[in-house]
Amino acid sequence: MDGKAVQRSIPVALGDRSYHVHIGRGVRELLPRVVADIGAKRVVVVTARPPELVPDPGVPALVIPARDGERDKTLATVGELCSRFAQYGLSRSDAVISCGGGTTTDTVGLAAALYHRGVPVVHLPTSLLAQVDASVGGKTAVNLPEGKNLVGTYWQPRAVLCDTEYLDTLPAREWRNGYGEIARCHFIGAGDLHGLPLADQIAASVARKAEIVAADERDTGLRHLLNYGHTLGHALERATDYAIAHGEGVAIGTVFAGRLAGALGRVPEARVAEHFEVVREYGLPTALPAGVSTPDLIRLMRLDKKATAGLTFVLDGPGGAELVAGVPAEVVADTLAGMPQAG
Ligand code: GLY
Repeated sequence: MDGKAVQRSIPVALGDRSYHVHIGRGVRELLPRVVADIGAKRVVVVTARPPELVPDPGVPALVIPARDGERDKTLATVGELCSRFAQYGLSRSDAVISCGGGTTTDTVGLAAALYHRGVPVVHLPTSLLAQVDASVGGKTAVNLPEGKNLVGTYWQPRAVLCDTEYLDTLPAREWRNGYGEIARCHFIGAGDLHGLPLADQIAASVARKAEIVAADERDTGLRHLLNYGHTLGHALERATDYAIAHGEGVAIGTVFAGRLAGALGRVPEARVAEHFEVVREYGLPTALPAGVSTPDLIRLMRLDKKATAGLTFVLDGPGGAELVAGVPAEVVADTLAGMPQAG
């Protein structure tokens, strides 16, 4: 590890399930210490990156190659992983290590949660999205043919090692994916992160998420804030058959959330404009893509998990962001119609 590299350590305070998220260049080298602290005698490493990018855990290891992507984020993959754990003789006092993007940490996290009713898991997220959001907070899930993330549970990792060296080779689309989540942090209490060094942006996003998760691990209230910009974002992903990436959808959804809060009289015009400016500053898309229709987007937004009482959004307001249910469809339609259009 580069001795001069600054590393940050963010606690996630959850009583006896508390852990740290370590951020910085080379933090993956903390893995053998983390494994030793767990007391594991052997580990299974599931990695979507080349195995040499996972440090020696310091105990015997079975390495299972994996693929990032929604296609393998299934119950079948979870079953296969658990079979491999059993064939290797992994016990409840051992550990599982995941290395990859959010789809890998989600799937491996669920396998770890289910195998022997729960074995320790350590995440080495390799995408910006996974470092700032997916790997932190204990949500694990896989997809069903009927929809994304429909089967999962909460299973907190023992540690998360966000090694920013993993990001050196990240493609442009993956940067946008992560920056969409960082941009939305501006409106949920993380402050202005634009222009900070990357590791500080990650640390501030993780620190805000850690506070929220510590207060509402099971997503019964405050944790909804993390879905700022996501209601339209998810609808855009689905309406474009995922041509719009998650973070791009969240970026456009954040601009929309500002406009909707303005239309409902919850925030002044200057705050509406701030939503646009923040998203633009991060170089993210601010306009609706061509070819998506307002009725389709409204239909998809009604399917949102938060929408238990009509169209529901996380919106800014005089007391900060909060969940707002029962937003009139006409106001949503007018606000969509007023959005900038791409192309
Ligand atoms: N990604 C949203 C959450 O962890 O609650």
